[in-house]
Amino acid sequence: MNVVFLSPAYPPEMQQYTRGLAEVGAKVFGVGDSHPQSLPRELRAHMHDYLQVPRIMDENDVIERVGVWLRGRSVDRVLANWEPLQILAARMREKWGVPGMSVDTTLGFRDKQLMKERVKAAGLRVPHSFRVRSPDESWAAAEKIGYPLIWKPIDGAGSADTYRCDSPKDLERALKKSRHIREASVEEFIDGEEFTYDTVCVQGRPMFENVAQYLPRPLIARTEEWISPVIITVRDLYQPYLRDGIELGRGVLKALNMGSGFTHMEWYKTAKGEVVFGEIGCRPGGAHLVDQMNHTCDIDLFREWARASVWHSFEAPTVRKYNAAIVFKRALGEGRITRITGLEDYKRRFGRWIVEEHLLRPGTHRRDWKQTLLSDGHLIVRHPEWAEAHKMAFAAATDITMFAGG
Ligand SMILES: Nc1ncnc2c1ncn2[C@@H]1O[C@H](COP(=O)(O)OP(=O)(O)O)[C@@H](O)[C@H]1O
Ligand SMILES: [Mg+2]
Repeated sequence: MNVVFLSPAYPPEMQQYTRGLAEVGAKVFGVGDSHPQSLPRELRAHMHDYLQVPRIMDENDVIERVGVWLRGRSVDRVLANWEPLQILAARMREKWGVPGMSVDTTLGFRDKQLMKERVKAAGLRVPHSFRVRSPDESWAAAEKIGYPLIWKPIDGAGSADTYRCDSPKDLERALKKSRHIREASVEEFIDGEEFTYDTVCVQGRPMFENVAQYLPRPLIARTEEWISPVIITVRDLYQPYLRDGIELGRGVLKALNMGSGFTHMEWYKTAKGEVVFGEIGCRPGGAHLVDQMNHTCDIDLFREWARASVWHSFEAPTVRKYNAAIVFKRALGEGRITRITGLEDYKRRFGRWIVEEHLLRPGTHRRDWKQTLLSDGHLIVRHPEWAEAHKMAFAAATDITMFAGG
């Protein structure tokens, strides 16, 4: 089983998927732009071979080089779990006749307007929206949609360049700040709670399902630096409160003709109880969501994704044992982390429920909280009871403080 895996070293969690592929018996042909000597030794050991390309985003060039490199060898899968490389993977599959999702199907998971059109055509509720390519088109769309509205890039990520506009003045400001964006989506603003619906699918069938709640909604978390964003996986997946959202998610997978692999969807639930589609990718959620899901069931989805993608089977138990909460912390001040208060006390109070503590240590430079969801580090806590997991997550948000300076 020869598997081409794109960008096995970056982002760092791709190394785990590479391991997973090796563990299920695939022969991994890694393709990336990192120098072979810079690759961690364990990663090298999981690959049968590795090709360094000068520019991993240069699709035509990569296709050409990999074609030459693999000439004479059969390729059984071409896989990518990093969003910007998914169209490239689909193009390679089409070019070499490798089974898996086509370019057109993959586009349904990449282009936010196309995905909404396809989901809507299946009779599912999506925000009213328009594709726009100029300020004039934005104004025309705003006229039809009304305020509040959301203005966001057609292929954005991490809420970057995403604006809630409550008035024409806000829209004017948003358009000024986003001149570098070629194509956007102008959407009806959906007020409500925000959840994920995540799966590992085998030929469109969700073998593993997950729901997590964002506290607060990602756009708010990205707008206010003082917030410690919290995301909690829900142990009790089949409670009535989530039923419509999970149904929506399953409908979306069908509407978009999902194949095998991870999906990560976001959906909204309004105060009236209506569920509305947000967006979906045919890749895992970022910001350690896969680790959180692993801690929810005590399983290894890095490996199970590989089994699903390569062998079309899924073997891990899906019994949910915990609500797993991640809390991202942001230091007060600029520059290097100087100290952390409240952590020791927190560990004393909740020690047995803490499964990860990766706050940046004093002396380390702060991360740019606008650029990375990871902020200045995180903790993961888990508990069989939702209320307890929720309480511990918010205690970490309020009782642990990181300081930076100098
Ligand atoms: N139509 C909408 N109504 C309300 N909030 C929205 C809407 N679209 C986006 N948002 C907010 O912006 C965030 C980022 O938008 P999203 O479509 O998820 O793009 P990204 O790929 O950047 O995550 C969402 O998580 C949500 O909080
Ligand atoms: Mg999103």
